[in-house]
Amino acid sequence: MTKFTINGTEHAFEGDPYMPLLWYLRDFAQMTGTKFGCGVGSCGACTVHLDGEPVRSCQTFMSDIEGSSITTIEGLESKASKAVQQAWDEMNVVQCGYCQSGQIMQAVGLLVSNPKPELSEIDEYMAGNACRCATYQRIRGAIVRASE
Ligand code: FES
Repeated sequence: MTKFTINGTEHAFEGDPYMPLLWYLRDFAQMTGTKFGCGVGSCGACTVHLDGEPVRSCQTFMSDIEGSSITTIEGLESKASKAVQQAWDEMNVVQCGYCQSGQIMQAVGLLVSNPKPELSEIDEYMAGNACRCATYQRIRGAIVRASE
């Protein structure tokens, strides 16, 4: 049995230890804010925080999360996350929206570890989060605004 928390609520899972966390979030916990994009760790749509660090939930297995604290887009409450979400809104970042929960989780991870990132640091940290609508300039601008 694997025990962990999601957004502060205790969960326990007994089943395939190699099932991706993303499956658990969407199909067991009914938290569909975290998206399936590529399934192979390349797009970032499935990004959540594992003990405060952004991870790809499609590549994080249930056996990896014993005793861990998971935060999803539904549970973001930190000061940095509020600034990011407000900046996202003000900068009108979203186009189709599919990748945006992953983008926001990654951006919050950046600002928690580096509250005043340089543009090059933003680009490097966000490089693994793909956006098919190519909203990259607005994402970058919103991260700058959230850091101000
Ligand atoms: Fe996990 Fe693309 S769905 S990185």
